[in-house]
Amino acid sequence: MKKIKGFASDNYSGAHPLIIEAIQKANSGHASAYGTDEYTARAIKKFKEHFGKDVDVYFVYNGTGANVLGLKAVTESFNSIICAETAHLNVDECGAPERFTGCKLLTVPTNDGKISVEKLKRHVYGFGDQHHAQPKVMSITQPTELGTLYTLKEVEDLGDYAHENGMLLHVDGARLSNAAASFNKSLKAITFDLGVDVLSFGGTKNGMMFGEAVIFRNKELSNKFAFIRKQGMQLASKMRFISAQFEELLSNDLWLKNAQHSNRMARILFDEIKKISEIKITQKVEANGVFAIVPKQYIPVLQKEYFFYVWNEQTSEVRWMCSFDTEEEDIHEFVALIKNVLS
Ligand SMILES: Cc1ncc(COP(=O)(O)O)c(C=O)c1O
Repeated sequence: MKKIKGFASDNYSGAHPLIIEAIQKANSGHASAYGTDEYTARAIKKFKEHFGKDVDVYFVYNGTGANVLGLKAVTESFNSIICAETAHLNVDECGAPERFTGCKLLTVPTNDGKISVEKLKRHVYGFGDQHHAQPKVMSITQPTELGTLYTLKEVEDLGDYAHENGMLLHVDGARLSNAAASFNKSLKAITFDLGVDVLSFGGTKNGMMFGEAVIFRNKELSNKFAFIRKQGMQLASKMRFISAQFEELLSNDLWLKNAQHSNRMARILFDEIKKISEIKITQKVEANGVFAIVPKQYIPVLQKEYFFYVWNEQTSEVRWMCSFDTEEEDIHEFVALIKNVLS
């Protein structure tokens, strides 16, 4: 029986067959543990090819771990971290950033998932004042949690502003490959070339089984990270199985093909949905997600057949995510159901 693919999240999909094959290949013989193996060395080499030779890369199990530990490495507990109120850091990490970094999260209201220098600068003051949490990091998500993209100029402006104030720019790139695919730019061109200091780079949402990377602009920023990762319980002993996946993902453009595909599927979904007058698309579709307001009464009927999340109960806004394995047929079947239910 055909299994329905829903639109809940890009981590509802399985792993790409080439990733499974890479895990299978890594599953032979013994290998040195904790990242001192040949798979990890090769994967790190790939990261340097994509992000620049000076970066320092560490693998972790999940995206929350990547964000929290990456931030912990560059902060003290008396610092503040500025992010959008919609940031995964702020709403979907169960307070782990505050718990583990000790920092104060200062949020900025947003309608499209983005923050700007203009919006965040009210939080950038009080340097040297012992009563005030010291501003240290601006954290953005690219693409945002609302499927939108910061322009390259917007990222650069945020980086410049951070550095002018002795602060750092962190990027939650759980879906960074989707952003690079959208811009048709290299991973380096949309991050470190623009002034990013610390980056969480996602594998899981782009075809890996599990595994994310924390990438630092240079070794000066990462000098405590090995200890922080161990204390943070994100040091994989059988690291080779994360590394083998990353090596595969970053070879032969697999990362790009997967991301281009999921972006294209979201575009097709958008093109179909916009023809349905009862549904209002709420965000620009710039990566692999579509956000829309659907009349409330129809949502449970659709959810009986397809997984997806209600993003905002009050406004009846839903999120539909496409994945590397979403097929055009899946979209047409879903859209046909929507039309049927709404008719
Ligand atoms: C923007 C963003 N950052 C980080 C994560 C990492 O999450 P996890 O800890 O579930 O791997 C997610 C997952 O939903 C995400 O959407």
